[in-house]
Amino acid sequence: MSDIADSSGSVDAAKYRQVLGHFPTGVCVITAMDAGTPAGLAVGSFASVSLDPALVLFCTSNTSSTLARISASGKFCVNVLGEDQEDICRVFASRSDDKFAGLGWKPSANHAPRIDGCLAWVDCDLHQSVDGGDHTIVIGAVTDLGMQHEGGPLLFYRGGYGRFAV
Ligand SMILES: Cc1cc2nc3c(=O)[nH]c(=O)nc-3n(C[C@H](O)[C@H](O)[C@H](O)COP(=O)(O)O)c2cc1C
Repeated sequence: MSDIADSSGSVDAAKYRQVLGHFPTGVCVITAMDAGTPAGLAVGSFASVSLDPALVLFCTSNTSSTLARISASGKFCVNVLGEDQEDICRVFASRSDDKFAGLGWKPSANHAPRIDGCLAWVDCDLHQSVDGGDHTIVIGAVTDLGMQHEGGPLLFYRGGYGRFAV
């Protein structure tokens, strides 16, 4: 038994979040076009998986309303946020009904919203959804990708936002 698990093997949620929060991440907004309506959520769990074939992943809570919409669409766009896009992150980390109000974006080739000013974007077809406990591991097959803005990334660490410095 570890020092954070009880006798049933359950992990203390607060300690889990606190310890895992020591791993810094970038922030992406995953977008999809679901029956003509844009959808999206902020994630820190984006990662590259494979070059050949080109695969990426993110993990999303099974309670996310956007997860079902990404699944229905079968396509999504990963938008890598820049250091000046914290406000956008906060909106997409909410459960607002209209996260796209006042936001500049254009449809990518797969119709998913590509957010103006993001550092980079990756268009994907939904390749596989894997059970990840209370989250789903979403694996995307890359169909197109590019960079669209010079600048530093938005970072998230121990519950706060920051910038990259050398
Ligand atoms: C920096 C940051 C990173 C996040 N990373 C994730 C993540 O990797 N997976 C996830 O499911 N939620 C993540 N969230 C929380 C979601 O963005 C949040 O639950 C959002 O309300 C989900 O929206 P939805 O229910 O409309 O899909 C993150 C939030 C922040 C601020």
